[in-house]
Amino acid sequence: MDCYHIQGGVPLGGEYRIKGAKNSALPVLAAAVARPGIHEIHDCPRIDDVFVMEEILQSLGASTRFEGNCLVADTRNIDKTQVPREVMSRMRSSVFLMGSLLARCGEATITRPGGCRIGKRPIDIHIEGLKQMGFEVEISDEEIKARGRCRGGRVQLPYPSVGATENLMMAAVSGEEETVIENCACEPEIADLQGFMRTCGFDVSGGGTGRIVVRGNPDAGKGSEAGKMNVDTMYFIVEDRIEAATYMAAVIGTGGRAVFRNIRAGLMQEVLAVFERMGVKVRSFDDAVEITSGARLKSPGIVITSPFPGFPTDCQPQLLTLCTGAEGLTTIREEIFESRFTHKRELIKMGANIEICGKNAIIKGECPLRGNRVCAADLRGGAALVLAGLFAAGETVVENVHHIDRGYENFEKGLRQLGGVIERRTSD
Ligand code: UD1
Repeated sequence: MDCYHIQGGVPLGGEYRIKGAKNSALPVLAAAVARPGIHEIHDCPRIDDVFVMEEILQSLGASTRFEGNCLVADTRNIDKTQVPREVMSRMRSSVFLMGSLLARCGEATITRPGGCRIGKRPIDIHIEGLKQMGFEVEISDEEIKARGRCRGGRVQLPYPSVGATENLMMAAVSGEEETVIENCACEPEIADLQGFMRTCGFDVSGGGTGRIVVRGNPDAGKGSEAGKMNVDTMYFIVEDRIEAATYMAAVIGTGGRAVFRNIRAGLMQEVLAVFERMGVKVRSFDDAVEITSGARLKSPGIVITSPFPGFPTDCQPQLLTLCTGAEGLTTIREEIFESRFTHKRELIKMGANIEICGKNAIIKGECPLRGNRVCAADLRGGAALVLAGLFAAGETVVENVHHIDRGYENFEKGLRQLGGVIERRTSD
């Protein structure tokens, strides 16, 4: 079990290049299954979730290899349609394989994705959408099996689920008619998935808006000549707005100044607006953002997480940590997941004053954090504890950093590049 040892109180500064987005790389790699070919996915983050996705692709018959930050996936020889239980239990995003396997092979079997510490995370919207599109779906205690062809038509999502939008987009490419998906999630990673799918030759439009239209081609399905047609692709993954927000919060909370390259402010407007409300100076360039922390941080007031373009739930834990040092009272309302304040107890151990009332976290600011031994319980909550360590006086040890490895490539190296004093050690 590795842990981070952090010496806090050092202002971060300098320059950092933002990596490709985890939440785009995962569905893009799943979509590579839908089209046989050699797919070069550039700017692909080297993170544990991507390594699990590689294992899934390999278990289905694909071969994958990393060359620097380019993941090369050869999906020409996919010959299995069942995602093994062991990998399915390690990553919820394996659910995407339903859509892409249905498109490629006309059938898919997955085991039920397990619960997750941040909430229940059901997949009912995925299943209902597939049924509405004409697929047969059988659910047992253990497995979910889907088969058939998409018959097209209109699917109305009851809630703009990111994963369901992506899954249904992929499944629809085998349709004989046009499929219109309404009330879609609008996250930039969905537009990015669409970009990759188009590069593969699929006819998808509207990605990134509430209405996605997929003009299916039944030949994309099993046994047809066109379905076997290889298309080799080269694709660059969109930048990771959540990684960007995390590093920016680290700079802000330590009173520093830094330039982030490979990030467009337009992808994270709401987050930048909240930082500005806290007294941070933000300068945006074509594909860079400069952050200068204010002398004193102010509370941003009330922040409510919501689907894009609202404040992202994936940045909520980092903001909560930042607000422990801001002047005034902050309310953060978590509207997307039921239990996403897992890091609160650990922050209190470090001196924070936080109360949870239902969906709201109420943070009394100007509580100086003190170093302590804390334990990460999930990906973003874990990153938020590393930030707390950087802001705190003295030494902080963050245990269970494998949660952080799921979504940040070499987090300690990035923070050290900005001047953070952080070391990774293997504890016994
Ligand atoms: C994606 C992101 C995750 C982010 C989340 C919300 C990826 C790989 N992950 O997760 O980082 O936190 O979006 O922005 O892109 N829901 C249902 N039934 C369903 C599906 C979802 O009730 O069938 C609920 C979930 O429990 C949750 C809410 O809808 O409360 C949002 O989930 P969703 O948008 O699907 O998130 P994910 O795609 O899982």
